[in-house]
Amino acid sequence: MTYSKIAGTGSYTPDRILTNRDLEKFVDTDDAWIRSRTGIQQRHVRAEGETTSDLALVASRRALEAAGLTTADVDLIVVATTTPDMVFPSTACLLQAKLGVKDGAAFDVQAVCTGFVYALSVADKFIRSGSARCALVVGAETFTNLLDWNDRNTCVLFGDGAGAVVLQAAREPGIYSTHLHSDGRYADLLSVPGTVSGGKASGSPTVKMDGGAVFKFAVKVLDQVCREALEANGLAISDVDWLVPHQANIRIIESTGHKLGIDPARVVVTVDRHGNTSAASIPLALDLAVRDGRIRHGQRVLLAGVGGGFTWGSALIGM
Ligand code: ACO
Repeated sequence: MTYSKIAGTGSYTPDRILTNRDLEKFVDTDDAWIRSRTGIQQRHVRAEGETTSDLALVASRRALEAAGLTTADVDLIVVATTTPDMVFPSTACLLQAKLGVKDGAAFDVQAVCTGFVYALSVADKFIRSGSARCALVVGAETFTNLLDWNDRNTCVLFGDGAGAVVLQAAREPGIYSTHLHSDGRYADLLSVPGTVSGGKASGSPTVKMDGGAVFKFAVKVLDQVCREALEANGLAISDVDWLVPHQANIRIIESTGHKLGIDPARVVVTVDRHGNTSAASIPLALDLAVRDGRIRHGQRVLLAGVGGGFTWGSALIGM
């Protein structure tokens, strides 16, 4: 039996930091409101000309280095992103070229903030089936491209970044299980209802959100999908060393943790530093906790994401 296992993690955030105080200068908001409602203190914003594949490239190189592998080992690239460099080719193909990988499959997965969990699930299945041996799985976003900086309801929430893992074939898990869900009836709660058509942007190219409804939905399904993972593996929450949830809002994270009954000290939180980086948020948080020594070899980690679509999912991982 072949399983997949994380061999290395990496991440990257652009140098430019936008604090809440910086936002105060051009948005009708204040630091105290943003902190108390969301837990966010700052977010990273891409440099002029910096694209999603540029962010993905640095995170990928760092993940390969951590795994002790090279680009020659990679035979699959899956990039989760809502903010591709262009309509096509996929960001995964652009990343493939920048890395100098010349063979294997490369494609994008679009599940907004659940994107990384979706991408990990897909790559896990490629490896389990024998279709790939070594996958680069990336969540990367230049999400600030989608913001209306005059809309204080949304623009204070998001940031840019990338996280990556190298997933390798292994004799033991690795990835114990993944559970994915979606329900398109909730599309209107969170969307960018625009596209490219007839040579111009049609519809609205910025984020529209019903914040209160998103909040309630997120807490409900994050709890459900974590319980689903635990039940499938015959485990209790006390058997999990770390919960790495999607980083949208500290109150969503705390409410989910409370419902699950997990010690807050075992929940990885980066939303204060990164804001919501959509598909990048989970691999970014995972990499930070690996590199600062909290997440260690042999531990069990539960990833849980939720995002537009609506989509939601979890992955239970042995590190
Ligand atoms: N600064 C100051 N005031 C603001 C701001 C801001 N940036 N944004 C909204 N307000 C005002 C509104 O205009 C409104 O004013 P009004 O009452 O005079 O009309 C008021 O604040 C709303 O306040 P609350 O209802 O208390 O806000 P709430 O506690 O619901 O927080 C928030 C709003 C932060 C958007 C919350 O609903 C939320 O986080 N929802 C989840 C949204 C989310 O995380 N989306 C990310 C994408 S989804 C995902 O990743 C899963």
